[in-house]
Amino acid sequence: MLLPEMRAELLRQHEDIRALIVEVRAAIARIRVHRVTADALRACLRAVDRALSAHHRCEEDVLCAELQSAASGPLRTALMTDRHRREHDHVQHALAQAAIVPDPLLAARAAERVIDDVLAHMALEERDLFADRQETAA
Ligand SMILES: [Fe+2]
Ligand SMILES: [Fe+2]
Repeated sequence: MLLPEMRAELLRQHEDIRALIVEVRAAIARIRVHRVTADALRACLRAVDRALSAHHRCEEDVLCAELQSAASGPLRTALMTDRHRREHDHVQHALAQAAIVPDPLLAARAAERVIDDVLAHMALEERDLFADRQETAA
């Protein structure tokens, strides 16, 4: 069983990442409205990348350990598979790519796509990986 403090830590990390994504959206808006350079956006994307790197390591360690326990069901097993890890790799690669797009408007578009992917990934985890753990732990 996933320990409540482990689940709470993963959820806290999600909230930290969401806060960084708010900053990414603000940087995207400044590019679109004020036609500023992509420097601030790149800094925001690097911050998201750092937070995601740490989060993915933690999540993979915690959830993989969970899957080795007898309490793990097929849904959890299916979700924390190679596909899940590939999604982690995909979003981090896309973040790195968005951070090197020279044109600010194109960088903003690329950043928007990747943060949407990150948000969707976290929402799916919270619905399918973390939610039933809360019931189990209650
Ligand atoms: Fe994940
Ligand atoms: Fe996550």
